[in-house]
Amino acid sequence: MSGKKIQAPKGVSEYIPPRSNIFEFVREALNTAARRAGYQLMELPVFEDTELFTRGVGASTDVVSKEMYTFTDRGDRSITLRPEGTAGVMRSVIEHGLDRGQLPIKVWYAGAFFRAERPQAGRYRQFYQVGIEAIGLNDPAIDAEVIAIADAGFRAIGLTQFRLDLTSLGDAQTRAAHRVDLVKFIQTLDLDEATSARALINPLRLFDDKREEMKKAMLNAPLLMDYLTPAAREDFENVKSYLDAMGIAYVVNPRMVRGLDYYTGTTFEFVHELLGAQSGIGGGGRYDGLMQELGGQALSGIGFGLGIDRAVLAAEAEGVISSDLAISDLFIIPLGDLAMNTALVTAQLLRNAGKTVHISFGDRALKGAMKAADKSGARYVVVLGDAEIASGNVELKHMNTGTTSSVRIDSLLEAI
Ligand code: HAM
Repeated sequence: MSGKKIQAPKGVSEYIPPRSNIFEFVREALNTAARRAGYQLMELPVFEDTELFTRGVGASTDVVSKEMYTFTDRGDRSITLRPEGTAGVMRSVIEHGLDRGQLPIKVWYAGAFFRAERPQAGRYRQFYQVGIEAIGLNDPAIDAEVIAIADAGFRAIGLTQFRLDLTSLGDAQTRAAHRVDLVKFIQTLDLDEATSARALINPLRLFDDKREEMKKAMLNAPLLMDYLTPAAREDFENVKSYLDAMGIAYVVNPRMVRGLDYYTGTTFEFVHELLGAQSGIGGGGRYDGLMQELGGQALSGIGFGLGIDRAVLAAEAEGVISSDLAISDLFIIPLGDLAMNTALVTAQLLRNAGKTVHISFGDRALKGAMKAADKSGARYVVVLGDAEIASGNVELKHMNTGTTSSVRIDSLLEAI
């Protein structure tokens, strides 16, 4: 046996205590915002039939063309680790016939996603998202609600230094008219083979090209925003006025292109000001054709994916997460076997009543145990020795103030 240390695969994010407390807090804040708006949990597989993503997410995207973790399983099937959540939700909705029930279908999900990207701060090969999807209703009010849920989630974390970029990709007529002119424009550019190929599948992709020369070349490109049909414009105006009414600020960014091909209509991205290159903390939008593309009915949907990893980094950058997230109510230090018995029984009662209780295990000297109590962030500490068990009373020490009071063991619940 070789003693070589095994390390995590390159570029994955992982959370261990105490930082995992922040991760947990962020994930809860984001999904609480969704649950409060009536969204229900969907727990889906992390691997799917590869075709779900090639058809659903789009072959022109980096996500599908370069970043998928695809392998052949033992039954010779092509399997891909999910790079995003929307396609899987659609697959499941169609498979279980939810689209034939009450609309809109409103679901949320949280979990790991996989993209073989070049790892850097805030960009990982396994990362985490909280997402929602509202399917079966094409109404600017629900677009505004979806955006408001993301905003509420970020604000519940305590974030303030972010902005919301908003645009509309219009309706089918808008996109068709714009595409004609955009393709004409692109034909005047001198493009390399790979870029031409990408433009052929989805010419909008070129707005997303990060190379300076391409950014310059695209400066005079026709903008989709200028092609909105009256109906599409009215929809977009409605989304904006609902957001205004809710006090949610946005910047209309007609050059914004999302990294996935299924978008139509309202699209948006939350950008954090302190995160540098990987500043997108969440994004989403409407997808009119996705469900049909995957073999379902022609239902429209809208949703978002919020990056938990990046929201954690943003919270740390803003310094808004307090370090006492893991604070417990009581730390019990039993001295001896009889005391351990009482400690276990007392902790069980208190925990059943909803309290967080630590017990000091092992033959730790009192001094060491007190140190551990201090480190645990517990609000109260009691030492249980033979005398306490005989009398039924303990000295309850309040860790913040250092004051103590005498409390009966069976009245601890009321005292802490
Ligand atoms: P997305 O913009 O590709 O959208 O990803 C959403 C968020 O996930 C990003 O804004 C970012 O915060 C985070 N994220 C993406 N890639 C990485 C990575 N490699 N490392 C760390 N964080 C990352 C979607 O995935 C769509 N499914 C969202 C959606 C739902 N649209 C409609 N419904």
